[in-house]
Amino acid sequence: MSSSIFRKKSIKKLLADAASGYSDAEHQGTHLKRELNVRDLTLMGIAAVVGAGIFSTVGVASFEGGPGVTLLFVVTAITCGFSALCYAEFASRIPVAGSAYTYAYASFGELIAWIIGWDLLMEYAIGNIAVAISWSEYFVNLLEGFNVHLPEWSTMDYLSASRAAEKVARLTAGGQVADITESMKNGAAAWANAPVFGNFKLIANFPALLIVVLITYLVYIGIRETKKATNAMVYLKIGVVLAVIAIGFFYVTPANWHPFLPNGFSGVMKGVSGVFFAYIGFDAISTTAEECKDPQRDLPRGMIYSLIICTVLYVLIALVLTGMVSYKDLNVGDPLAFVFKKVGLTNISYVISVSAVIATASVLLIFQLGQPRIWMSMSRDGLLPKAFSRIHPKYHTPSFATIITGIVVAVPALFMNLTEVTDLTSIGTLFAFVLVCGGVLLLPQEEAHKGRFKLPYFNSKFIVPVLFITGVIVFRTAIANLFSGDAAHENFPMFLFLILAAVLTVLAFIKNLSLIPVLGLMSCFYLMTQLGYTNWLRFLVWLAIGLVVYFTYSYKNSKLGKA
Ligand code: ALA
Repeated sequence: MSSSIFRKKSIKKLLADAASGYSDAEHQGTHLKRELNVRDLTLMGIAAVVGAGIFSTVGVASFEGGPGVTLLFVVTAITCGFSALCYAEFASRIPVAGSAYTYAYASFGELIAWIIGWDLLMEYAIGNIAVAISWSEYFVNLLEGFNVHLPEWSTMDYLSASRAAEKVARLTAGGQVADITESMKNGAAAWANAPVFGNFKLIANFPALLIVVLITYLVYIGIRETKKATNAMVYLKIGVVLAVIAIGFFYVTPANWHPFLPNGFSGVMKGVSGVFFAYIGFDAISTTAEECKDPQRDLPRGMIYSLIICTVLYVLIALVLTGMVSYKDLNVGDPLAFVFKKVGLTNISYVISVSAVIATASVLLIFQLGQPRIWMSMSRDGLLPKAFSRIHPKYHTPSFATIITGIVVAVPALFMNLTEVTDLTSIGTLFAFVLVCGGVLLLPQEEAHKGRFKLPYFNSKFIVPVLFITGVIVFRTAIANLFSGDAAHENFPMFLFLILAAVLTVLAFIKNLSLIPVLGLMSCFYLMTQLGYTNWLRFLVWLAIGLVVYFTYSYKNSKLGKA
């Protein structure tokens, strides 16, 4: 028995537990079904990636960064690529549901595994709140196209409505009626017409609730049904994205690509959250390890193939988007539909809205599938109550965990605001990537069980120090500026990055660390630093709550502690 909070689970034990996790008295005879092959996994990866990001959040990122946002898509893809390779190494060695949580248990030990499991809630559940809200926006627009009008108070969150009403009142009083936008008008209408119960105005996003309930039901009734629905949706959305690229290129005006960086590098970096959000998801397929026919071979391939396909599509879309109209027009929530409407192709814009509804629904599906499987793994280890690993005797899905995921996503989706949940999702996911890259560096090499995918080893001994020193010289002024000004404390994420980079550089030199995970770790952490002080504070509060839960429940109930 180990009482250390850093007690580790060996890969051998992880594999054995996964095999026996459902053979105890309570779960006798119940198991997940092995249904998925490499094609399904690649499609699932694309299903999880192409969604609210490219159909929605990328609009504001293009507005901030101009055509140069294309570079951000490339940089983010490279960053994700390092992480994907690290995920692939883990998925191949430890083909057990639970994704980064399981990997952290093998490499960093229990406390960090718990932190990552808690953090992944941000990627999956909070990410899905964002996707459900975005789905609702496109769905409501679509209904408008059919002349079906839902009352505004039933399609948005309370905070957005109250803020919009306040702005409209202020602009009207100041005689600036021309500055009142369509979305402000909607918010004010929601505020004015909402049913009132005592002091409470009922303003909530009911379509978001509805889609989460539907998707949760689908995920509950089985992996095969989920797979069929996913495959169909993915073919459709790839088709539409390709059509957007092909048709869009005929409407590109190259002059729109100049200047390429209208707001400089800092303008481009303002889009990190939105662009990174668009890539989130390729890692989610690692949660289906126990439902794959040959996880050690297929999971790494599925992740890497889906990331490559999405990167190519995204870079082309970014070029089309910023080439069809001026970047200044792209401050909208439905950029793809918008640019086609703007060049007079209204019918195509309509088709895009339909496919956005489908695309975002498939993202929801994969994330609703992933979250319960992570909880299932945590519950098997005793870190969560036993009910979370209960498998439905007929549907062979983690039934209780699936329903709880549905509730955790559906209820906040009624009330929360899109931007805030997107930012939290991006920071949480980047942190998971940081730990996965770091975990690969710590993974024991002598474990008997070797996967079929092997991360290529390049020695970082000289490359990383050269990169670090070059970076410090090139950015010396910016680094010096970090310490000046009244709000220097707000730069603490950047200070942390500099310390981490320095330590890693030394370790790389001394220990000949593998280059890919080192670069993955540094680049993901760097992107985290770009996500803003407030966001960091929220993230740290979230982690602190997780620690309280760990020390009051999970530590005491951990099976490793009792073994
Ligand atoms: N990448 C996923 C999306 O954009 C989360 O919807």
